[in-house]
Amino acid sequence: MPRDEIMTEISATLQTRHKASVSSAIKNLHPVYLDRAENAEIWDVEGKRYIDFVGGIGVLTIGHRHPVVMAKVAAQMARFTHSCFNALLHEPYVAVTEWLAKNCPIEGPAKSMLTNSGAEAMENALKLARAFTGRTGVIAFDGGFHGRTLATLALTGKVTPYKTGLGPLPGPVHHVPYPCVETDVSVDDAFAAMDRIFAIVAGPETIGAVVIEPVQGEGGFRACPPEFLQRLRAFCDRHGMVLIADEIQSGFGRTGKLFAIEHAGMCPDILVMGKGIGGGFPLAAITGAEDVMSAMGPGGLGGTYSGNPVACAAATGVFEVLENENILARANELDTQYGRHIENLRGLAGGQMIGGMRGIGAMRAFELVDDAGYPAPKRLQALLQLARESGLLLMPSGEHANVVRLLAPLTISADLVDEAFALIGRLLPEVEKIVA
Ligand SMILES: Cc1ncc(COP(=O)(O)O)c(C=O)c1O
Repeated sequence: MPRDEIMTEISATLQTRHKASVSSAIKNLHPVYLDRAENAEIWDVEGKRYIDFVGGIGVLTIGHRHPVVMAKVAAQMARFTHSCFNALLHEPYVAVTEWLAKNCPIEGPAKSMLTNSGAEAMENALKLARAFTGRTGVIAFDGGFHGRTLATLALTGKVTPYKTGLGPLPGPVHHVPYPCVETDVSVDDAFAAMDRIFAIVAGPETIGAVVIEPVQGEGGFRACPPEFLQRLRAFCDRHGMVLIADEIQSGFGRTGKLFAIEHAGMCPDILVMGKGIGGGFPLAAITGAEDVMSAMGPGGLGGTYSGNPVACAAATGVFEVLENENILARANELDTQYGRHIENLRGLAGGQMIGGMRGIGAMRAFELVDDAGYPAPKRLQALLQLARESGLLLMPSGEHANVVRLLAPLTISADLVDEAFALIGRLLPEVEKIVA
């Protein structure tokens, strides 16, 4: 019996309560109940310690419980915890939008709206694009992931498990192939696919927005060429479409720049952010060109909890840490360290299962392949389980679920990274034994 199934009483009791009351449609990657966490380490309710390469699925860019974030949150909690910004105003909201206006790659004066989740942010970006252009159509990309609400599911370029059985979703959304090394789709191929849509499905005058992840997250850390983003900018300008960059996973330093789109040196019309912005508190944002962001009338945007003051205070802590602790430089150091370790894994026993390396900066991933070089999701499952049992939490991704994405906090120490990769190296022969 796998060791995971031998639970102590605490976990077993929790598991029973969990199974009895939580929807089974919420899949849990690791059967681990957290007790406490610091930076890149967590301890479960059994007292077992793990190195965290999941990072709340890319949320904990500056680690669990960063002291600067904790202090900001504590100070805010001592004053007030809620206002509903549509009803009563507060300074932390304005501090966040000011910082975004100064730091987001948007041409001209930028305005923002804060939300609770990435999907909610993306929904509002779509509303603004519709209002601004008077068009309803959207172009999105195969393998993209934009959230789990109905409109964002429509954008998401993968059926199972997200859209199965849900029937028609809000549209019209037209998917085109995502150009990158892994898909072997060229920049020209992707533009040809858009031309094909215009020729046989819907003319450009019906399309209000193009939505793209500069680096796909759930899609397996696939980065499109900078040239594609630059041409997409010109394409959207030519056709009067709003270019929406979804940087919910790739933003806030993960790729070595504040936003991945900066690697292409161009600006979207709307930048959608989430995850890392809140330092572990629920916050997301859209920042865009003033005319687009003002396309809806007063009352068109908002929400009871959107821009909660405690989450905003946490974000101001994140901004301070980004600036004062050289987080971007750290992401670039991690890039080098990850690259060296992934290369090293290839030379070890079982190392032939390490396929291509993907991503940019610290937004790195590596593929697991079988002996013929094809995706090996079963090997990934085996590695995930063995690593967890040995105290390392890893995260899968990609259309074949064979890609290990490295989502450790950017504040993780070099020693912990070494420890994690030494463990992966030791586990490869075991993985090979379990899944030949
Ligand atoms: C690129 C991207 N867009 C949107 C979302 C949805 O964000 P949320 O889960 O906060 O709604 C995610 C979440 O993983 C994401 O990675």
